[in-house]
Amino acid sequence: MTRAAEQGHPRRRIRTAVAALTSAALAATGMLAFAGSAHAADTLRGAAEQSGRYYGAAIGPQLLGEADYTSTLNAEFNSVVAENAMKWDATEPNRGQFTFGGGDQIVAHAQSQGMEVRGHTLVWHAQQPGWVQGLGGDDLRRAMLDHIDGVAGHYAGQISSWDVVNEAFEWDGSRRQSNLQQQLGDGWIEEAFRAADAADPAAKLCYNDFSTDGINAKSDGIYRMVEDFLARGVPIDCVGFQSHLGQDSDLSTYQQNLQRFADLGVDVEITELDVGGSGAAQANVYRGVTEACLAVSRCTGITVWGITDKYSWRGDESPLLFDANYQKKEAYYAVLEALNGAAAEGPGQDGDLSATSYHPASWRESGQAVS
Ligand code: G3I
Repeated sequence: MTRAAEQGHPRRRIRTAVAALTSAALAATGMLAFAGSAHAADTLRGAAEQSGRYYGAAIGPQLLGEADYTSTLNAEFNSVVAENAMKWDATEPNRGQFTFGGGDQIVAHAQSQGMEVRGHTLVWHAQQPGWVQGLGGDDLRRAMLDHIDGVAGHYAGQISSWDVVNEAFEWDGSRRQSNLQQQLGDGWIEEAFRAADAADPAAKLCYNDFSTDGINAKSDGIYRMVEDFLARGVPIDCVGFQSHLGQDSDLSTYQQNLQRFADLGVDVEITELDVGGSGAAQANVYRGVTEACLAVSRCTGITVWGITDKYSWRGDESPLLFDANYQKKEAYYAVLEALNGAAAEGPGQDGDLSATSYHPASWRESGQAVS
């Protein structure tokens, strides 16, 4: 039985049910529009909504004043995440002194455009403010818990899903030996999730990592953690797969990997997708990721790590869907075509009340399944 069915916070279960109903409504709308108009959606957000999913982008608040940036964002995406503005160094530069300006600007914009907001990221070994890095033992634990409470509390009710913990595993499935792991021991990830759940019971709580784009030692390690968390009622609702890829990336077990986490009883989200390369090779990888997500009912959406190559963290690799002049690339059309081809089967979630949703075995065992 999944945690959501077993112990889900009433508010989160309501949120999940509302989200499911919304997804079903979006899917139905999409179906009606699709069936009635008999032509595909012509934006990423419109095409994604046909199957009750989101298609999002990582953004910087400082760029919202650029006309092309904002017009492309508003037209094409129905979810946003702060590329940097909600990280520890940006939100608590000095201990106990919180600065939310950038994140608030992103949330306000999203709400004005009917977009969801992903939260990124509450606890990470990188981009910690200087005052954190020298802390040890219980002082670091206190600082981490106070940070989670301050940031997740500030945005409570406004975040669809939080990357509670980011990049805590090594390639071989062992824990990254960060200051967090060394000073706090193995229990720190659980502590972070419990603190986030207390601060914002409505948000879905995700673990997020990279190089987990298939079944490998790293994704195995994360799988074992999620299995343990669910078995012990630790509040976790999703796993984020960053998917920083290249045009030659091997996607042979990508879908299978997403599916095994969904079968555990968590949602899966593609959280930071970008694909270095160009032309058909790049487009094929974007298409493969999109089709894998669409094939897994509990894959609730995809976020690309930026709008335009002009501002990508990957500099000259041209990894995004819009070029430096905001022109749609071959990869954009590959994604749009894949999204339009999806059956209007929305993402499934425990407690989902819609008829077209995913009902994992554990969901049926929970007695929630409608006969
Ligand atoms: O804010 C300072 C600014 O004051 C200073 O003038 C400027 C020049 O030094 O640096 C600015 O900080 C930069 C920050 O982005 C905000 O723009 C850092 O130098 C720069 O290293 C940082 O890069 C970000 C990187 O995370 C940090 O690790 C990238 O933009 C961001 O795309 C990237 O995103 C991460 C995800 O959060 C987690 N997954 C991996 C992904 C790629 O590394």
